[in-house]
Amino acid sequence: MSALFEPFSLRSLTIPNRLWMAPMCQYSAAPEGPAQGVPGDWHFQHLAARAAGGTGLILTEATAVSPEGRISPYDLGLWNDAQTEAFRRITDAIKAQNSVPGIQIAHAGRKASTERTWVDRGRPLAPGEGHGWQPVAPSPLAFDAAHTTPDELTADQIAGLVEKFADTARRALAAGFQVVEIHGAHGYLVNQFLSPYTNHRTDAYGGSYENRTRLALEIVDAVREVWPAELPVFFRISATDWLSEDDRDDREGWTADDTVRFARELKEHGVDLLDTSTGGNAPDVRITSAPGYQVPFAERVKKETGLAVGAVGLITEARQAEKIIADGQADAVLLGRELLRSPSFAQHAARELGAAVHIPQQYHRAV
Ligand SMILES: Cc1cc2nc3c(=O)[nH]c(=O)nc-3n(C[C@H](O)[C@H](O)[C@H](O)COP(=O)(O)O)c2cc1C
Repeated sequence: MSALFEPFSLRSLTIPNRLWMAPMCQYSAAPEGPAQGVPGDWHFQHLAARAAGGTGLILTEATAVSPEGRISPYDLGLWNDAQTEAFRRITDAIKAQNSVPGIQIAHAGRKASTERTWVDRGRPLAPGEGHGWQPVAPSPLAFDAAHTTPDELTADQIAGLVEKFADTARRALAAGFQVVEIHGAHGYLVNQFLSPYTNHRTDAYGGSYENRTRLALEIVDAVREVWPAELPVFFRISATDWLSEDDRDDREGWTADDTVRFARELKEHGVDLLDTSTGGNAPDVRITSAPGYQVPFAERVKKETGLAVGAVGLITEARQAEKIIADGQADAVLLGRELLRSPSFAQHAARELGAAVHIPQQYHRAV
């Protein structure tokens, strides 16, 4: 009996197994014009192929709540009707494969306006350079020397952001998604507010822990209000900035203790699962990565708060994934790069573990 291929229920939604696809930017949408941010054939085949491969839940790439919230000009967005319509074709295809369509909704904040990763290593685009624009953030602090210094968000702009996340969630529901994940990780806007490293505000949205977490909780509440009670909301967090783990680094950042405290609050506000990643907020930190290196952060949240967790990062083997679930370290594993290499990884894993998994009828002769 495989734990990895046991179904998992959150609210009224049952996800057929615990091997899920992590959100991954494809930088393949039109940068301007009527098709700006609209998913096309590349996104369709990319997401549908992993669903046909037996993956239990498919998360879209970071999908921006507004044009300036995209990471690169080529990112997906969900702020207009054309985008909403186009996503419907993808959610239908995922559901037809017995998989669950989920969407990660995001704002890049100060890390916005970059090239695609395969062009000049994804270097920042200055405002007006190509399709580049002026980024915004909690505080006017550039990510690094190459990035543009962002404009500090005003109180009105912050209120508008909360509405944008809610509007995108409403559109996601209309497009057929069954899970919405708020991107609070990897140094993007919500993460920038959470961490004292990037949030130097002196108003109600900066300073104390309560103030730094305010925007994230307002977004969660606004999304929860438009998202049906029978469907789950996920939150992706960077459990640490990796500043406090380094004895030689005395800069203040977001810590694993903060994550545990915040997970309890997210749970009270109606978040159903913490997708637990790390890093991305400070560029020059030391990270000791190894297979499954982020799993202990997920495990700690699960054990100390009872909130369901997803584990992600360098999970590449069936038995490794099986052990994480069987040992109770996480409720699900999210795979990124291994699913790029192997779209049918879930079917290979099921075979190795002697478990049943969805295989399209068209492929039954291969079994
Ligand atoms: C091409 C690519 C794009 C990514 N885009 C996103 C994204 O849009 N949102 C996000 O939260 N993480 C993103 N990530 C991080 C992955 O979701 C995942 O956390 C990371 O790759 C570690 O998992 P892995 O070792 O299984 O690849 C991306 C990773 C890759 C490789």
